[in-house]
Amino acid sequence: MNAQVAVNVTLRRPHPHEVEPLLALFEAEVRAGLMLPRTVESVLCCLESWLIAEAGGEVIGCVSLVRYSDALCEVRSLAVRPDFRGQGIASRLVRAALELAREQGYRRVLTLTRAPRLFTKLGFRLDVVTNFPEKVWKDCAPCPFKDACDEVALLYTLEEER
Ligand SMILES: CC(C)(COP(=O)(O)OP(=O)(O)OC[C@H]1O[C@@H](n2cnc3c(N)ncnc32)[C@H](O)[C@@H]1OP(=O)(O)O)[C@@H](O)C(=O)NCCC(=O)NCCS
Repeated sequence: MNAQVAVNVTLRRPHPHEVEPLLALFEAEVRAGLMLPRTVESVLCCLESWLIAEAGGEVIGCVSLVRYSDALCEVRSLAVRPDFRGQGIASRLVRAALELAREQGYRRVLTLTRAPRLFTKLGFRLDVVTNFPEKVWKDCAPCPFKDACDEVALLYTLEEER
């Protein structure tokens, strides 16, 4: 269980001037080959697909939805600033991303992660990435780690809630 829950944290869409601090949240993981890179332009073009966590006027967490089809999207680029981790902020961001996916009409939400527990606690179920050729063609095929991938695929089905 989380020892404490961050209460003075707001989740909302990012403003254009917040894109650079947002990208800084996971630049170390991108450099280490642990997360896919995102460009300023690719975030600016799709701000409606991003959520940030804000505390004291600073961007301290982020998450995005990436579209594969009308029915399927992926929760991607989930990150929380190191000094705010362990307070349930990533869980709040994923729950809000699921709500956003529901609002945008998606039926299934995929994620690939090295932190599967975070997602199974929120109702995601273990799956296999080969069930998602849209993902494999777009991101896995060109990935340098494709033959030694240590990420786990999980799926959340929004339909089941109706
Ligand atoms: C992974 C990350 C987003 C978690 O953020 P967080 O706000 O600390 O996460 P939460 O407090 O909501 O954690 C919820 C649960 O997720 C799990 N969890 C959190 N971080 C984890 C990690 N790095 N590895 C495995 N499980 C993790 C824990 O089981 C936790 O459950 P608990 O409350 O029973 O301990 C954060 O560590 C981070 O930004 N890491 C670098 C970026 C990254 O790796 N992103 C990819 C994530 S898919």
